[in-house]
Amino acid sequence: MKNFLIVGGSSGIGLELATLLKNTHHLWVASRTPGPLAAMGITHIPLDVTAPVGSLDGLPDQLDGLVYCPGSVSLKPFKSLSAQNFQDDLELNFLGLVKILHPVMPLFREGASLVFFSSVAVGKGMPYHTSISASKGAIEGFARALAAEYAPKIRVNVIAPSLVETALTARLLNNEKKRGLLAARHPLGRVGSPGDIARMAAFLLSDDSSWMSGQVIGIDGGISTLQTP
Ligand SMILES: NC(=O)c1ccc[n+]([C@@H]2O[C@H](COP(=O)([O-])OP(=O)(O)OC[C@H]3O[C@@H](n4cnc5c(N)ncnc54)[C@H](OP(=O)(O)O)[C@@H]3O)[C@@H](O)[C@H]2O)c1
Repeated sequence: MKNFLIVGGSSGIGLELATLLKNTHHLWVASRTPGPLAAMGITHIPLDVTAPVGSLDGLPDQLDGLVYCPGSVSLKPFKSLSAQNFQDDLELNFLGLVKILHPVMPLFREGASLVFFSSVAVGKGMPYHTSISASKGAIEGFARALAAEYAPKIRVNVIAPSLVETALTARLLNNEKKRGLLAARHPLGRVGSPGDIARMAAFLLSDDSSWMSGQVIGIDGGISTLQTP
């Protein structure tokens, strides 16, 4: 049994990951609200990553991995995005991760694995994504540099999903017409499920991926690389 910290594991992809791992590993989940975690018997640590983060109370002495899930989808034309909008996205998607890692890095054991989230929109330019792409782009550069700095002790990888059905994207998928249009944009003909992404996160946390570090893995229904008729 390994010790994993999932930041933002109370809903969406993080909750799906917690559900996958809860019977085989020790989990600590940090988020603003506990969601269904108490009923699942998972330890919850109240945390807002946009507030100052000191020491994280309640963690074990050693950790084998961390997954950082908090993120946003603020799709707007560049002219409608203020500097504060960019700052807010950066705080949640990237600077919150930096704040968490400072107290947590000393806890990682040899062979620990860190998993962060980017977006398909970093590698493929998409309109209305300037702010979120800037924040997620920071994650990708940071992850590669961190992976180099901590190799071989700690591995760091990033998952770059396309549209996945969670609370975060509920507004984009709230009727059948929108859902159909967005599904059709993906060569594999559907939007993603939390499980599509959580299974990759579980693989990256596991020793099955022990020769992978510094990678950005697209799980995106083929939209980043495939041109279909
Ligand atoms: N869903 C997609 O289509 C998609 C696409 C590309 C990338 N991603 C990325 O994948 C990751 C997971 O997305 P998701 O769709 O699973 O999101 P989600 O359903 O909104 O879940 C986000 C999790 O982060 C927590 N969280 C949010 N703000 C927080 C804060 N200030 N402090 C602490 N915890 C906070 C939430 O819990 P509380 O609300 O209780 O704090 C929740 O557990 C994100 O980084 C997202 O950008 C998602």
